[in-house]
Amino acid sequence: MTQDEAKAAVARRAVEFVEDGMRVGLGTGTTATMFIRALAERKPKIRCVASSDASFNLGAELGLDMMTLNELPEIDVYIDGADEVGPGLALIKGGGGALLREKIVASAAKRFVVVVDSSKVVECLGKFPLPIEVIKMALPLVLPKLEALGLEPKQRRAKSGDGPYLTDEGNFIVDCFVGKIADPVMVAAEVRAIVGVVEHGLFLGMAQVALVAGEDGVTEWLG
Ligand code: 5RP
Repeated sequence: MTQDEAKAAVARRAVEFVEDGMRVGLGTGTTATMFIRALAERKPKIRCVASSDASFNLGAELGLDMMTLNELPEIDVYIDGADEVGPGLALIKGGGGALLREKIVASAAKRFVVVVDSSKVVECLGKFPLPIEVIKMALPLVLPKLEALGLEPKQRRAKSGDGPYLTDEGNFIVDCFVGKIADPVMVAAEVRAIVGVVEHGLFLGMAQVALVAGEDGVTEWLG
């Protein structure tokens, strides 16, 4: 099974978590995009909120009833990918730069189902660089503080190579090349304490279910 086939398999399985009448959070990234497409094919009677402009626009284009959190502040299920899934369904997210809105939508959901291929499952978080969203003017203050924590920060550039990467909220992303995050709770607290950090990509105690696709098909893990 290729990685894309695995992503497509979990995306299809995740559709089973959605029932007519539900308020559904749509995630961001390639796996979430496959989920949105699979969901829309069923023409469900649901209302949706998205964690990025890209997913909002895709949902609208495919005929889903897209709303804002203002209109739909409570969500039954949020379905999204992740960059790493560690013990206890601790996650690193934000590879696609949407971590702030993703965390906001996840926090509004009764149930967060994370959908990944098995290459994302790790014993210790941190091989994937930890993304941190930073207010633009605070960058010169935040970078040395992240360095002092040993997090090896590097500002993300736009994919076009043209200038810095900007989030949907107009902030910078700093990727931290940590290697191993032995104590994610402590790192989350240290990073959050830095003035100018808007949010970090550690999602701890947020996901209740993981759908993991590997050679044996899709397995369901509970957090
Ligand atoms: C975007 C995210 C994505 O969920 C994460 O990067 C996984 O993406 P993909 O499904 O493309 O591998 O956190 O900010």
